[in-house]
Amino acid sequence: MSAQVRLCEVGPRDGLQNETESLAVAVRAEFIAALCAAGHQHIECGAFVRADLIPQMQDTAAVLAALAPMPSVRLTALVPNLKGYEAALAAGCKSVAIFTAASETFNQRNSNASIDESFERFAPVAARATADGVRLRGYVSTVLHCPFEGRINPATAVAVAQRLLVLGCDEVSFGETTGRATPNEVRELCAHVNGAGLMNVAAMHFHDTYGMGVANTLVAFEAGVRSFDASAGGLGGCPNAPGAAGNVATEDLLHLFAGLGVVTGVDPVLQHRAGEIVAAALGRSLPGRVWRACHP
Ligand code: HMG
Ligand code: MG
Repeated sequence: MSAQVRLCEVGPRDGLQNETESLAVAVRAEFIAALCAAGHQHIECGAFVRADLIPQMQDTAAVLAALAPMPSVRLTALVPNLKGYEAALAAGCKSVAIFTAASETFNQRNSNASIDESFERFAPVAARATADGVRLRGYVSTVLHCPFEGRINPATAVAVAQRLLVLGCDEVSFGETTGRATPNEVRELCAHVNGAGLMNVAAMHFHDTYGMGVANTLVAFEAGVRSFDASAGGLGGCPNAPGAAGNVATEDLLHLFAGLGVVTGVDPVLQHRAGEIVAAALGRSLPGRVWRACHP
């Protein structure tokens, strides 16, 4: 039987949160629907965070309300605290993602909290999610590099991931926020993940600042990771990670895995069409689109 990987398409959240322009609710909903049509089983659809800090994610509730029911697809929204969780629940979310970091400085800048303080915020979220039957995903950012602290010990990232799993996360995404990591560093991270027995619950979330996203995905796959985040057209970035580029492009991962004979369940032509919706709304090509446009 062919190997399979699970993809989480983060374009509607990570992809759009770093754009200067906030896209209309209807466009965001059309993008998510197109990603669903392409075969995605897990889509990060938005965030319930402070609109004054991340205006691009404003109206995530309206985006969800504009979607036709897609019961077989996991639609996850980012929530930093109970306030965000309650807004997500009211919007009908059945899956939320909490996010923290391996670097204190990054977490402070991104969430206005120390790592411990972010876990104090997560405790009531996790309790409510369990009671409400809402799935919980976790993120650890800056797993190998921090824009402010430099190199991060991957053991620290794994320790934070273990705390998220204790809270009830069914998967932890290891965010290589800066896109600086090289394959040897990712191999080292994966060895720590494996050593802690977390391979089955680990996802990798690569940004592509230095074009290392595909290479890093490949070494993580070879090390046993079977879950990857990616963004349509390579859009994305965190406003609190200066200098970082977008996520590794979903199109690139589809090409990589197709070449390896690994099943993703996502149609590359329909993926391309979903990206075109955003490109048209932004009035420009997405990163790397010129090449990919003739190669769907
Ligand atoms: P805070 O200011 O510390 O929160 O923000 P607070 O509890 O002190 O509340 C202050 C005000 O914010 C209050 O309003 C709250 O109601 C309001 P006021 O009473 O003054 O009018 N507030 C909220 N409003 C809307 N939604 C909420 C919420 N919570 C409080 N959930 C907070 C802390 C985390 C909320 C804030 O810093 C924030 O929203 N930050 C945005 C973080 C973010 O979205 N970052 C980007 C996503 S993470 C990422 O990209 C990395 C990732 O991709 C992985 C990787 O690549 O590494 C996941
Ligand atoms: Mg990210």
